[in-house]
Formats: sequence, structure tokens, C-alpha cells
Amino acid sequence: MTRTMKALVLNQHGGIENLEVVEDKPIPAVVEGHVVIRVRASSFNYHDVFTVQGMPGIKVPLPVVIGLDMAGEITEVGVGVADWKVGDRVLVNPLNKKKGLMGEMLDGGMAEYCLVSAEQLIAMPLGVSFEDAASLPVAYGTAHRMLVTHNTVKAGDRVLILGASGGVGTGCVMLAKHLGAEVIACAGSADKMERLREMGADHVVNYRETDFSKWAIEKFGKPQRRTYEGGVDVVINFTGGDTWVPSLKCLKRGGRLLVCGATAGFDPKEDLRYIWSFELNITGSNSFYDDNLSALMDLIQSGHLKPAIDKVLPLSEAATGLKMIQDRSVMGKIIVTP
Ligand SMILES: NC(=O)c1ccc[n+]([C@@H]2O[C@H](COP(=O)([O-])OP(=O)(O)OC[C@H]3O[C@@H](n4cnc5c(N)ncnc54)[C@H](OP(=O)(O)O)[C@@H]3O)[C@@H](O)[C@H]2O)c1
Repeated sequence: MTRTMKALVLNQHGGIENLEVVEDKPIPAVVEGHVVIRVRASSFNYHDVFTVQGMPGIKVPLPVVIGLDMAGEITEVGVGVADWKVGDRVLVNPLNKKKGLMGEMLDGGMAEYCLVSAEQLIAMPLGVSFEDAASLPVAYGTAHRMLVTHNTVKAGDRVLILGASGGVGTGCVMLAKHLGAEVIACAGSADKMERLREMGADHVVNYRETDFSKWAIEKFGKPQRRTYEGGVDVVINFTGGDTWVPSLKCLKRGGRLLVCGATAGFDPKEDLRYIWSFELNITGSNSFYDDNLSALMDLIQSGHLKPAIDKVLPLSEAATGLKMIQDRSVMGKIIVTP
């Protein structure tokens, strides 16, 4: 008899209402070079909103179990897998090198069980919970690569973070504080601002009420072309759209604009004058590698990082969590425990 499991399945692109919790999906059979894991925690990212809607140029093989991030225990080990055994606690790097992203090009983490290539497994240190681990890959992994791997933030820098309340955003706030920066966290509500302060942000700006760029110029002075006075050292911008030019305007001479996404639009108005006049550096950052995820788990284990988790939901309520991300009412990460 086929053993079945619960899973959150996307049957066709459109709205979040197209997601369905099914109870009779066959538990995947283990195959060579792979393991099956019992998923203990998975997390949503804005990427899942894009997957549900459908993205130009990306053909998702539907139906698919969504969810890129997951952590769990190995329940079965396939032929040819030497380094892992049943019971091992693992975090999954969602990028399958042959097939693409889990939760998009192949079944992901919003299910009780998942088939994972052994190449994608990362051992979880003792003391790191499944919930904390599952909150890391796409959001905190990307933040870690952007700030640490690219060596873009150093102690004493003034770092202004747009979308600071989200997954990548809270990761950037925490890592920038850990690196010794002065953090200006920008978010869209009073409640989020209060929570960003509790998280360690030195300044908070509600950019729905206040022009963040003008605020930074008033606070730190107008950036100067001939000296390095005024403005901020770094702006982190994965929003794009009409936040792009204001981000250029508040950077000091030699400042750095870091970009890893464009939630509000990828083809914003540009103003090249600021880039040459102030000798600005634009650094793109994409994705993350296993070393980012291992470093993040070490930071959790040593007590230097505690991922911001807004809600932990059962699979039956998972779609509500994704709706919160779409509605911008999330502070940090939404975890699902299938
Ligand atoms: N390149 C990569 O490897 C990579 C990896 C991860 C993420 N990303 C990208 O980075 C972005 C953030 O991802 P995430 O998972 O951190 O998202 P998230 O958790 O939903 O956070 C995004 C935040 O941006 C703010 N925001 C500003 N304008 C927005 C808009 N028009 N629509 C929605 N939110 C808006 C929201 O906060 P307020 O409401 O407070 O403004 C929200 O909390 C996405 O564009 C994602 O695709 C790229």
C-alpha cells in the first residue's frame, strides 16, 4: 500500500487561494544519491508569492509542493549516499544543481516528507532548532552573502535598510548590528518600527510617512562631492521601484548600494549623475552557498543570532502565512511545521 502524506500543493498559478492542503500525496520513494527527510520546519519567502503568481520565463512543473526552505530528520537513505544516516538532523540548501530550486522546479518543504539530493544537505549543529534553521536559507543566507561574503559592511558604517521588517530585511538588520554598524531600519508601520528597535536597530524610519532619503540627509548631513562627509555609507535595497533614486541620493561619496531583489519593480527610474558624482558602488548579490548557511547556524549556536520568527503555523494554516507576506504584515519569518 502506498504511504501518503499531507502537503501544500500549487495546482495552477494565480492567487494564494490556489494552494491546497492535500492529505493523500504519496510519500516520495528514496532514489540513488538522495535521502528522504521528515520535514520538521519549513519557511516562506516572498519568492513563494512569485511562484504562486507565476514568473515570466520560469515554467513551474505543476502541481508542485511549494516551500524553498526546510529542515528535518533523515528517514531513508538512498544507494550511494555515504555521509548521511537515518536520524541525522539536516538543513537543506534549496538549490538542486541539476533541476533548479526546490518548491519551484521540484517538490519543496511544505510537506511532511521531502526527497532531497544528498548534495543539498547541511548538518545542523546541536542547539539549533528546526524552526531557526528553516528560517535561514533564502532570507538570512542571502543577507549573509550580501553583507559578509561581499565584505560590504564594516564596523562603524551607517547602514540604511529598506524593507527591514521582512525575511532578508531582518537578516540584514541582525548581521549589520553583529558587524558593528549603525543601523537605520526602514519599515511601513509603527508596530514594525517598534519591533525593529527591539531587534537592535539604532534608528527607525516609517517610510510610508517620512521620505527616508530626506530623513537620512537631515540626520547625517548632505553628501559632499569633495569630502566624505554627510549621508550614509551603505543602503540595502531589494525593493527597487521608486525607492531606487532616493537610495542614490542619501549615499555619501564612495557609498555602497547593495541590491538582491526588486519587490516593487526591477526597471526603476535611474539617475546616473549621483553614481559618477559621488563615486557610488552598486553591488549585486544573488543567492547563497552552503558556507553562508553553516556560518549562520554557528552564529545561532554561539548565541550571536536569533532569527526573527513572526509565527509558527501548522500546515493546515500555511496559506494564511503566505497571505501575510503578500499583505506586508509580517515581521521576519513565517515558519510552518508540517
Ligand atoms: N537574489 C536573491 O538571491 C534573493 C534572495 C532572497 C530574496 N530576494 C528578493 O528580496 C526581496 C525580499 O524578499 P523577502 O523574502 O525578504 O520578502 P518579505 O519577507 O516579504 O520582505 C519584504 C519587505 O519589503 C517591504 N516592501 C517594500 N515594498 C514592498 C512591495 N511593493 N511589496 C512587498 N513588500 C514590500 C515590506 O515591508 P514594509 O511593508 O514594512 O515596507 C516587506 O516586509 C524579494 O524581492 C525577493 O525576491 C532575492
